[in-house]
Amino acid sequence: MNKNLFLIIITITTLLPLNTNGAKCHPDDESGLLTLKSSIKFDPSSMLKTWITGTDCCTWSGVSCGDNKRVTTLSLTGDLENPKSYLSGTVPKSFANLTKIFNLDLSDNFLVDPFPSLNVKGIESLDLSRNMFHLNEIPKWVTSSPIIYSLKLAKCGIKMKLDDWKPSETYFYDFIDLSGNEISGSAVGLLNETEYLVGFWSSENVLKFDLGSLRFGDRLKYLDLSHNMVFGKVTTSVVGIEKLNVSYNHLCGEIPKNNLSASVFVGNDCLCGSPLKPCKA
Ligand SMILES: *[C@@H]1O[C@H](CO)[C@@H](O)[C@H](O)[C@H]1NC(C)=O
Ligand SMILES: *[C@@H]1O[C@H](CO)[C@@H](O)[C@H](O)[C@H]1NC(C)=O
Ligand SMILES: *[C@@H]1O[C@H](CO)[C@@H](O)[C@H](O)[C@H]1NC(C)=O
Ligand SMILES: *[C@@H]1O[C@H](CO)[C@@H](O)[C@H](O)[C@H]1NC(C)=O
Repeated sequence: MNKNLFLIIITITTLLPLNTNGAKCHPDDESGLLTLKSSIKFDPSSMLKTWITGTDCCTWSGVSCGDNKRVTTLSLTGDLENPKSYLSGTVPKSFANLTKIFNLDLSDNFLVDPFPSLNVKGIESLDLSRNMFHLNEIPKWVTSSPIIYSLKLAKCGIKMKLDDWKPSETYFYDFIDLSGNEISGSAVGLLNETEYLVGFWSSENVLKFDLGSLRFGDRLKYLDLSHNMVFGKVTTSVVGIEKLNVSYNHLCGEIPKNNLSASVFVGNDCLCGSPLKPCKA
């Protein structure tokens, strides 16, 4: 009896490590994440404390896996409310080993250049906003993604002409945030092509186009073009956008009937009419 119990315990304890081994994440994903961890110089809030070699990386904080134990999502965002919650360091080349990652959010950290080119078949959502990156352009592996719906690259040091950006897919795009870069040219072509776009944020750039020629889909609910060089008139379709901001541009003329606040329109050359001052007769 005692001997049997002993044998059972031996069997269980020797089998246990095998079982946990069987449930581990893919080795490429584990090594990709561990090299990321070793490239992080400061992690004052210990965001990565659960990232321990030999444990299933699918259980690590910020990581999610698909059915086949491949990492599909990584979300490690700094918290602007908590000054100690950020990561600083670099994203190593071997991070490209995470070839099944679809959703990546590294926003609001202090990560520095260079950001590696990822070997993903298609990214669905990407947020690298507000780090210390100088990407210069929207990365090619992003532009070529056939399934991307959310692209957020605010304050990523992008210096390009928006007209030169030709994403291979525009159908799935819901959200595009390119605020706080040095993006010039026109948003007319892009908004005309992204038929199902819900939000376009591009404040604090140097976009220069006639707002009157902007065409966009019915679903557009957020449009922020504040602090650019947009000219022309505000049309009825533009004031119909639920969350609009065209402040600090070079717009002129009478604002169509609306119930928006003055901060949506202030700082333009010669806009007039409610909620700003009445136009001169
Ligand atoms: C990817 O992971 C393998 C180990 O699985 C490693 O040998 C290789 O250097 C890694 N780096 C890249 C860029 O793929
Ligand atoms: C807008 O899209 C339509 C149809 O896709 C195209 O024919 C037209 O030339 C586009 N206009 C602009 C200004 O890009
Ligand atoms: C403002 O406009 C929206 C959309 O047209 C409408 O739903 C809402 O009732 C209006 N609010 C006021 C206070 O007029
Ligand atoms: C519009 O943008 C300006 C400048 O960024 C900002 O001060 C203002 O609060 C914004 N207004 C709304 C309604 O979002």
